[in-house]
Amino acid sequence: MSLEAKAVSIERDNRPIVEDATIAIDRGGMTALVGPNGAGKSTLLKALAGEYAVTSGEVSLDGRPVSGLSAGELARRRSVMAQASSIVFDFTVEEILDLGWVQGQSRNNGQHRAATSEVVRECRIGHLMGRTFNTLSGGEQQRVQFARCLLQVWQPHDEVDTRYVLLDEPTSSLDLAHELMVLRLARRYAQRSAGVLVVLHDLNLAARFCRNIVIMFEGRVVANGDPAEVLNDALLSDVYATEIRVEWHEALERIVVHA
Ligand SMILES: Nc1ncnc2c1ncn2[C@@H]1O[C@H](COP(=O)(O)OP(=O)(O)OP(=O)(O)O)[C@@H](O)[C@H]1O
Ligand SMILES: [Mg+2]
Repeated sequence: MSLEAKAVSIERDNRPIVEDATIAIDRGGMTALVGPNGAGKSTLLKALAGEYAVTSGEVSLDGRPVSGLSAGELARRRSVMAQASSIVFDFTVEEILDLGWVQGQSRNNGQHRAATSEVVRECRIGHLMGRTFNTLSGGEQQRVQFARCLLQVWQPHDEVDTRYVLLDEPTSSLDLAHELMVLRLARRYAQRSAGVLVVLHDLNLAARFCRNIVIMFEGRVVANGDPAEVLNDALLSDVYATEIRVEWHEALERIVVHA
């Protein structure tokens, strides 16, 4: 069971943006999508989310083409955190979170309240409840959007997760501590057998938290696999046109990438 793009090409304004990309987001672990600015990461993520039509190839969710799923079904099976989101109306934080509650049950029942308070506690946004979203700092807004995303695919803990979470640079505005918090929560969610795709620019975080790393370059998937295999000096230096070194850090017991 996975969320898959098979040989997907996407054009925007008659320009090829993604070409022949194949990627599978398996359940049970996080997949990182990395690559330089403009490589096509957000475009591929939106196609996986069913938000962009593909020019050729196919996107399927557990074997069913996403183009055939209803909006409601898509909302229950996968949540998306966009790279940039502007909120036009003066919604409160509660109202933003409520937008994420799509599980069919009405609001303000026991399950909705339990799920919301769990997610609010985990994302450490309790002190922001009652505030107007547009008055929050960039990092606070990002944590609320992340919480909304988790709430959308919330499932009771005694059920096996069958959902997918697509996060486009969810930590771009966060301080170090909150960055780790978000990635730990996302990974734990994946370990409960959901599938999580996260677009990241920080290759160290990608290596540390993700089971699989996909590298995109100029619209194509140029590497896909285990972090230790995919992250190598030659490929990264080529893709980023910058000298990059990958080393094993004995004390930290993990890969360190530096430019
Ligand atoms: N609607 C569009 N019309 C024309 N070009 C587009 C459109 N959307 C994206 N592009 C172009 O497609 C390329 C890939 O964009 P995309 O947003 O997928 O990149 P990205 O890998 O997410 O980059 P970043 O790391 O900067 O977020 C870019 O060159 C962008 O300018
Ligand atoms: Mg992007």
